[in-house]
Amino acid sequence: MKNAAPWWKKTTIYQIYPRSFKDTNADGIGDLPGIIQKLDYIKDLGFETIWISPFFASPQQDWGYDIASYREIAPEYGTMADAERLIDEVHRRGMKVVFDLVLNHTSIQHPWFRESCTSKDNPKSDWYLWRDGRGKKHPPNNWKAMPGGSGWHYHPGRDQWYYASFLPFQPDLNYRNPEVKREMFKNVKFWLDKGVDGYRLDIFHAIYKADHFRNNPFHWSYIPGEDRYGFFTEWKYTVNQPETIELAHEMRGLMDSFEPSRFILGEIFGSDSLIKEYLGDTANGMHAIFLWDLMAFKFNAVFFWDALNHYETWYPPPFTPVLVLGNHDSRRWIDRVNGDVEKAKLIALLQLTARGLPVVYYGEEIGLPEGKISAKDSLDPVGQRFAWAPNWLLSLLNLYVNRDNCRTPMAWDGSNKAGFTDKDAKPWLPLSADPAHVNAAVQKSDPDSLINWYKNLLNYRKATPALQYGNLELLPKESSRNGVLGFIRDSGNQKVAVLINFDSNTQSVKLGAKRIALQTGDAFLRAGEVVLGGLSGIVVCLDDD
Ligand code: BGC
Repeated sequence: MKNAAPWWKKTTIYQIYPRSFKDTNADGIGDLPGIIQKLDYIKDLGFETIWISPFFASPQQDWGYDIASYREIAPEYGTMADAERLIDEVHRRGMKVVFDLVLNHTSIQHPWFRESCTSKDNPKSDWYLWRDGRGKKHPPNNWKAMPGGSGWHYHPGRDQWYYASFLPFQPDLNYRNPEVKREMFKNVKFWLDKGVDGYRLDIFHAIYKADHFRNNPFHWSYIPGEDRYGFFTEWKYTVNQPETIELAHEMRGLMDSFEPSRFILGEIFGSDSLIKEYLGDTANGMHAIFLWDLMAFKFNAVFFWDALNHYETWYPPPFTPVLVLGNHDSRRWIDRVNGDVEKAKLIALLQLTARGLPVVYYGEEIGLPEGKISAKDSLDPVGQRFAWAPNWLLSLLNLYVNRDNCRTPMAWDGSNKAGFTDKDAKPWLPLSADPAHVNAAVQKSDPDSLINWYKNLLNYRKATPALQYGNLELLPKESSRNGVLGFIRDSGNQKVAVLINFDSNTQSVKLGAKRIALQTGDAFLRAGEVVLGGLSGIVVCLDDD
């Protein structure tokens, strides 16, 4: 197989939450110049693409996922010149940059919404989803919001209700109005014209709602399940409508109309068959869509065997599964292995050698821990909404609600404010790491550290076509029952095997390995077999060269 795979199939993505990454003007808030300052760090680690959460003009009620102007930069993050310089600086390093595109909703402070609420007949009156209620006190129907509660909100100015899939200050746009689509597409093109390489598409599955506005049917479960149901309703008329799938294809067309063509990565929740529709029969729809299996990992080989088997069964080549374990909405996964660096190295090994597009959330490379901010002190609107809920209830329902804790500042060095901000400034969220022990600088000087393991993996992957775009064949499930996950990556002219022992006992696997490419823990080759000590992992070459 020739190395003809497009860049996004071979790349590795590093997600930056700009508010928490690097502050350069001592206001306690990360900014765009901070990202620019750290591009060499990201490149040196071996990542080839960055995705940046929104930094556009916003009242910051949901920290940027509530946009008031798509073509302006929030002043605390910098200026338009900074954004342009960021794009250039990324490209100058041979890297790519993906922005975050919030199509589904705007902020209530967006001029479109401000106009839309003034009357029932202004030029933007149906740019959002407005309906009459059932009497004064009752919303138009039973449609819920993703974080719970009714999605409908009464507006006295219009004596009507508007719908918001997420929080009340994030009203959903009405894409059935062609003008809305046209104007939003102008925003999309604005950044593509400036050279942005692609977009991550925020809650894309929610964009269209059924136009009959009928009640969603009853569903027995209160607990949200992949946003297909929850709060005693099935989300039949509010997500994954046929028009949303068409829009995904239209967006792909728009990306392809640029030279060079651009990339879209969807945040979508739905069944595999729906996701396949967004991707298109011949991979002609959205380039890639987040898959969530790994997020809920259990630290054992059978779990990961099942997850990879699921990805290979549903998303074989030419599809590219997205390999993601954490983001700005979910508990930092290092906490689920109790901060154990040896275990973290095995997870990183899996994420960076399995077939797919790895997306690593800032701080994962150093094992940045979760914060300890209580829901009542939370700045996250979802955290505040659930401040009443006792921890036992949240864990029973498996709900992660205080997202502040996965958004704490990056720890760059062992100084007082961990090098995130000036020593006299107050970071917007308290640091979660003990910077004396968990920080990038100290780990860089230790060859056995987690950060250097990421660096080795990323750089090996970059030089190894079999890992970048080769096929994946799982070794039989039997060995995973003994604790060892194994798979072979084959690009046609290069073959490597990856073996990971999730168990604490030594295991051996018969395999004609030629040499070791990478290893962690006590793993070695012995006459025709690979021996794996407890919690060890290895990448071996199966070819002669
Ligand atoms: C983003 C969240 C955001 C929500 C509303 C998402 O899924 O990842 O951080 O709060 O959409 O925009």
